Amino acid sequence: MFPPKFAWGAATAAYQIEGGWDSDGKGPSIWDTFCHKGGGLVYEDHSGDVTCSSYVFWEEDLKCIQQLGLTHYRLSVSWSRLLPDGTTKHVNQKGVRYYNKVIDDLLASNVMPMVTLYHFDLPQALQDQGGWTSPEMADIFDSYACFCFQTFGDRVKLWITLNEPYVCAKLGHEDGIFAPGIKEPGIAAYLVGHNMLRAHARAWHSYHSMYRAKQGGAVSLALNSDWAEPVNPASPDDIAATERYLAFSLGWFAWPVFVTGDYPEVMRSRVELRSKELSCQDCRLPAFSKDEPSILGTADFFALNYYTSRRVKAVGGLPEGCGLKSDQDAEAVVDPTWPVCGVSWLAVVPDGLRKLLKYIKDTFNNPAVYITENGFSQVGPVVMDDVQRCGFYQDIIQEVAKAIQEDGVDVRGYFAWSLLDNFEWADGFRVRFGLFHVDFAQPEKTRTIYRSGREYAGIISKYQSQTNNSQ
Ligand code: GAL
Repeated sequence: MFPPKFAWGAATAAYQIEGGWDSDGKGPSIWDTFCHKGGGLVYEDHSGDVTCSSYVFWEEDLKCIQQLGLTHYRLSVSWSRLLPDGTTKHVNQKGVRYYNKVIDDLLASNVMPMVTLYHFDLPQALQDQGGWTSPEMADIFDSYACFCFQTFGDRVKLWITLNEPYVCAKLGHEDGIFAPGIKEPGIAAYLVGHNMLRAHARAWHSYHSMYRAKQGGAVSLALNSDWAEPVNPASPDDIAATERYLAFSLGWFAWPVFVTGDYPEVMRSRVELRSKELSCQDCRLPAFSKDEPSILGTADFFALNYYTSRRVKAVGGLPEGCGLKSDQDAEAVVDPTWPVCGVSWLAVVPDGLRKLLKYIKDTFNNPAVYITENGFSQVGPVVMDDVQRCGFYQDIIQEVAKAIQEDGVDVRGYFAWSLLDNFEWADGFRVRFGLFHVDFAQPEKTRTIYRSGREYAGIISKYQSQTNNSQ
C-alpha cells in the first residue's frame, strides 16, 4: 500500500526529447556543441537535434502521460530555449510559450508537473565564460532560477534545481565523456561540484525568501546514487572502502545539503592526503565561504535517482599510473558482481533501492523522499513485448513498498525513467529506456506503448484504487 497522495510519475529531460535544437530562437547548449563535434564522442555521432521532437509533438507526449494514468510528470526546461545566452538580458518568448503550454496542459489533465531547471544542458554562451568552473555561475544560475519561479511558479509546485551534479562534475569535467568533455582529473570536478552546490543553495534561498510564501512549492536537487556493499562483508577494509565510495558519490552532495554544510570528513581528509602524496600545491577540494548563504538545509525533500548497485573493495596503495581522479582519491574499486542487463553499467538489483532508501532515512534525518528517476533499458533489436522490464517494474515497486511499510521510509513518489525512448547521452539512440517506443526513423516519431508501459499503468491503477477504497 502506498500513501494516499503518492506521486506516480515518469521523467524526461529537455535535451533528450525536445529536438528543435535551434528552433524559434533557442540558443545552443553544451550538448549541441558536444554532439556536433563528431568524432565518435557520442555513439555513431548521434545528437539530440531532433530526437523525439517533443518541441513539436508535445501533445503526443501528453497522450502517453494520460494513457499511463500518471499523477505527476517530471520534465526539464531548456535554459537556452528560455534564455538563449543564459542571462535574463534576453528572454525568448517562444520558449516561455512552449513551457507554459506544457504546464497548462498537464494541469488541465490533472497531472502535477515537477520541473528540473538544469538537466546537463548549459547554455554554450555560459560555457564560453568558464561554465561551472566559474564562481560567477552561482549568481547567474540564481537569476535563471528566479526567472523560472517568477514565470512558472504560480503553477509549478515541485522544483529540482540541478539534476545529478555528480554526473556533471565527474563525467563532464573529469572523465570527459559527457559535455563539455573536459578531462582535468581531480581539479575541475571538485570545483564544478562546488559551484553547483553554491548555485543550488542560492536558488533555494531565493525561493525561500521571495516565492515560497506566495507559491507554496518545494525545492530540491536530484542526486544520483548507487547502493554499495562490501565485496567481503567481514573485511573492515572493504567496509571502509564502501563507506568511502558512498561518501565520494552521494555524500559529496548530500552531506553539505543535509548533514553538516560541508563535504564528508573522509572526503576532505583523503583528498588532502592524496594531494600531499602527489605533491599538489593546493588542496583540491574547495572550502565553503562563511560569507555566503548556507548550503545546509537547502532542500525541502530528498530527490533520488537510483539505477544500480555495486560491490566495493579497498585498493591498497596507489594504483599503477595513478592520477588524481575523484574515484582514485576514494581508493575504493567496484567489483562487477551482479549480472548486468541492458547497458553495461546497469546491474539490476531492486532490493538495493530499498537498502539505499533505509540508508537515506538513517543518514539524512528521515527526509521526505521522491525517487525522481529509476528505470531499466533495452539495447539491440527492439522488443515490444518486454517481459523482462515488466518484471523489473514489479520488483522494484515492491521494494519501494517494503521501504515504506517495513522500514518506515517517507517515500512520497516514484518517477520511472523514462516516459519515452530518447537520446541517451553518449549512448545516443542505441539504448532505450522508454515506457513508450519511439520510431526515430519516422518524421512523426510515432510513440507506441511497450508491454512494460502497460504494466506500469496497471500498477498505478491497482495502487490508486486500493488507496481510494481505503479512504
Ligand atoms: C541519469 C540521467 C538521465 C538518464 C538516465 C539513464 O543519469 O539523469 O538523463 O539518461 O541516467 O541513463
